[in-house]
Amino acid sequence: MAQYQSFPEIGGDSLSLDKLKALNLPDLSGRRFLDVGCNEGFFCGFAKFQGAERVVGIDHSALFIERARRRFPECEFYRQDWQEIPAGVFDVILLASSLHYAEDQAELIRRLVERLSPDGVLVLELGIVQLMKNDWVKVERGIDERLFPTMAKLRETLEPYAWKWIGESVLQAGDPVPRHVVHVSRRRPFAYLLLQPPGYGKSTIAKSLFLPAGVAAVSGDELILQVATGRKEAPASLQALLAEDFSPFRIDQTIRKVFEAGLGPDLVALFRREADGADFALDVYIPDEHHALVESLLSQAGYLPVTMRWGKAGMSPMPQEVSARRAEGYFLALVESGHGEAGLPADAPATRVPAQGFIDEAVLSDDLLTIRGWAVSETGEAPRVLSVRVGGQAHLISAFERQARADVQDYLGLPHALFGYRVSLAVPSGAGAEKLLETLELRAGSAENSMGPVLAFATPLAKSGRG
Ligand SMILES: C[S@@+](CC[C@H](N)C(=O)[O-])C[C@H]1O[C@@H](n2cnc3c(N)ncnc32)[C@H](O)[C@@H]1O
Repeated sequence: MAQYQSFPEIGGDSLSLDKLKALNLPDLSGRRFLDVGCNEGFFCGFAKFQGAERVVGIDHSALFIERARRRFPECEFYRQDWQEIPAGVFDVILLASSLHYAEDQAELIRRLVERLSPDGVLVLELGIVQLMKNDWVKVERGIDERLFPTMAKLRETLEPYAWKWIGESVLQAGDPVPRHVVHVSRRRPFAYLLLQPPGYGKSTIAKSLFLPAGVAAVSGDELILQVATGRKEAPASLQALLAEDFSPFRIDQTIRKVFEAGLGPDLVALFRREADGADFALDVYIPDEHHALVESLLSQAGYLPVTMRWGKAGMSPMPQEVSARRAEGYFLALVESGHGEAGLPADAPATRVPAQGFIDEAVLSDDLLTIRGWAVSETGEAPRVLSVRVGGQAHLISAFERQARADVQDYLGLPHALFGYRVSLAVPSGAGAEKLLETLELRAGSAENSMGPVLAFATPLAKSGRG
C-alpha cells in the first residue's frame, strides 16, 4: 500500500507537516484527542507530544494501525471502521482527508459531533468543489471517484452546528479539488439577555424582535409572579422570599434581595427551565453587579449568553430622594414667601386654625440656647417671625430652621407639615441655666407687629438645660 503520511525517514503522498500546520488545532495539553482515519498516526503522535491526556486513533487498515502502534506505542490505536466510534467523549476529533470515503458524509459528521465534549471541536480537513451550486459533486481521481461538497452544500450540511472556516489546507500533487480546514462544534443555544432596568423597553424588544424570529421570550416578572402566588414550583427558600416580598410594583427590589440572599442561581435555573434548552430571550431586570453571575451560570448550563445593552430614550425620572428634596424645597419657599395667604380667595370661609403652639425643648449649651417646637401663627399659617425674650433681652428672629411635623399636621388637619421651628441664639454667659430658662418667653407670628400668644412648654420635662 502506498505511503501516505510523511515522517522524517520516509516521504509520503501527503505533506503531513504542512497539513498539521494548516489544521490550526487548539491547545491539546490535558485533552482527549481522537483521529478518525488516522493512517500511521502522525497526528496522534503530535497530540501526545503536546501533552494530550488520551490519544486514540482508528483506521480500517490493519497495516496502518500496525505501523501506527509501532511508531507511537503510548497512544491507543484500533483497527476498526468509523461506523463504530471508540467509547468516551473527546475534546478534539480530527477527520482529515477522509470525509469523502464515508457513504453518508453528513451522518458521519453528526456522529462525530455527538462524541464531542460540550466545548469540544471537530477538525475537518476536506476537499471543497469550487462551483456555485449547492451539491455533492462526483470527482474523478486517479484512484477512484468520490463525492465532494460545494461550499453551499457544506454550509447546508453544517447548519446544525457552530462552525468556522479556518483556511486552506495543503495542496497535494494531483489533487482535483482544493482542500480546506473547518472547525465544527456543538451549537450552544443562545440566551439573549435583556437585563436593563425597568423602563428601558425590554418587553417591547422581546416581543417585537425575538418572538417574530421564533425565539421564545421568558418574562422574569411573569415567572416571579407565578412563583410568588404558588402557580409555579421553585425551591422552597426562593419561593418563600418571593412570596414574602412580592409586589408587582417593586419586582426590581425583590430581585435585588434574591441575589443578596444568594438565591440568584435558583432564579436563573427557573428561567432556564422555562427555555428548556432552546434559544431564548430573557426579559428581566438584574442589577449590573449580578450580570456576570447570570452569564456564567447560563454558560455553565451550556448556553451562549449574549448580553444586550442599549441606552434609555427620553428623560429619566430623578432618584426618588432628589425628587422629594426638590418638592420640599419648593414648598418651603412658598411657605416662607407667604404665598399661601396670597392665594386665598377674598371670600374664603374662615376655617383657619387659631394661633397656638408649644416649646418642646430648650437646651442651653455653653452660651447657645437652642429652642425647638411648633407653632401656628395668628393667620393660621406657619410662623414667619419668632420673638424670643430671655434673660431680659428681646430677639426678633425671621431666619430659623423649619421642621416637618407630620404629627401636628395630622392633629390639626393642616395643609402641610412645616409648622416646626428650631432656633438658636447666643445668650449672656454666666447665667445659671435653670434660672435663665425660667425667664424664656417665645411667641410666633406672621410679622413683627403681629404675634400670637406666649407659647408654653409642652411638658415640664422638655425644659432642660446645662449650665
Ligand atoms: C487519505 S487517508 C488520510 C489519513 C490521515 N487522516 C491524514 O490526513 O494523514 C484516509 C484514511 O482513512 C482510512 N479510512 C478510509 N475509510 C475508512 C473507514 N470507513 N473507517 C476507518 N478508516 C477509514 C484509510 O485507511 C486511510 O488511512
